Amino acid sequence: MGRFLLMIPGPSITDPETMLDMAKPTHSHVSEDFDTMHRESLGMLKKVFGTEGDVVVIPGSGTAAIELAVRTSVKPGERVVVLKAGFFADYLADAARRIGADVAVVQSPTGRGFTGDDVERILRGGGYSAVLLQHVETSAAVANPVKDIARKAKEFGAKVVVDGIASVGGMEMRLDEWGVDACLTGSQKALAVPPGLAIVAYRKGFAPLSESETTYFNISRLLKEMESTRNYYITPAVNMVYALHSSLRRILAEGLEARYRRHEVLAKAVQRGIEALGLRLVAEEPFRAHTVTAAYIPEGVEWPRLYSEMRARGVEIAGGLGELRGKIFRIGHMGEVTANDVTATLASLERSLAKLGYRVEFGSAVRAAQEVLHSYGV
Ligand SMILES: Cc1ncc(COP(=O)(O)O)c(C=O)c1O
Repeated sequence: MGRFLLMIPGPSITDPETMLDMAKPTHSHVSEDFDTMHRESLGMLKKVFGTEGDVVVIPGSGTAAIELAVRTSVKPGERVVVLKAGFFADYLADAARRIGADVAVVQSPTGRGFTGDDVERILRGGGYSAVLLQHVETSAAVANPVKDIARKAKEFGAKVVVDGIASVGGMEMRLDEWGVDACLTGSQKALAVPPGLAIVAYRKGFAPLSESETTYFNISRLLKEMESTRNYYITPAVNMVYALHSSLRRILAEGLEARYRRHEVLAKAVQRGIEALGLRLVAEEPFRAHTVTAAYIPEGVEWPRLYSEMRARGVEIAGGLGELRGKIFRIGHMGEVTANDVTATLASLERSLAKLGYRVEFGSAVRAAQEVLHSYGV
């Protein structure tokens, strides 16, 4: 496997210290020390989500978190709208349909998200009782202005359910203040923990619904387990919680504001760097995510070859999903990513594209990124 740079939009780089913490001996999930660590992790997650409400952590990928969040915030028969800015919106729609919700999907043009005004137009006369959306739609590197959208939704009395899988820990999220009823994430993105934990947070005062419980997604029993792991229902992923605890400590030590700022600056550096190569970004302003950037692959270059050239230079990037498969590449810059990782990635991109016959002025992407970094004193 060797040394390489993991620059995909999740899983992201995990700090070696966190990896070592994860390798500590597995304790009993009902032991006092694990219970304490579990409770501390939930306390730290509340800070990251900006909530004093409930937070649930279970073993599972992000999709498990989607399913749990939707099952506990939407009732069968409710009329809900999914704001689709790309591939992952279908997961929300599918989860809602499976519990018998009446689901409408509204799609934005590729590269665009939804403004508060868009949401007002959608909700006016729609009779929707909930709005479901991605904070960051990873497939197009598009970010939705959740704060504005939640405010509008509240005006119409609609609940708000946010997939923050590619944002939480890298972009600001404030459930209680913004009125987001449920927000979910996975461990493997901006929280910088390996894949394996599904996390759902609820705003203070929102009581998760139990109508659509299943054996696994049994919110009543999971909430009891969150109070204390001694109220065993399902076995927590003990070593994953070690990693979560470790990474959350790092996150809060960095400071949430500083962390969000770092993500914003690194995103700008990547975006300017890619544009300096004459490539077109998928996401338009003001919808560009701070955690992932997507760009169209230039004519004459094929994705599998670009991937191989980057890989040969020790950098792993991602391709497109769904309708954008083969057309775009995506660079993840979330979690533990540094300015050095970003400049190294852009340098490798320059050489990879040049190798594939695309005209590159060496240093142009790196230079543009450096200028951004320098202007922010990085
Ligand atoms: C925004 C978003 N939603 C949902 C998912 C699915 O998560 P998972 O693959 O962890 O189940 C992803 C994965 O990349 C994602 O980025």
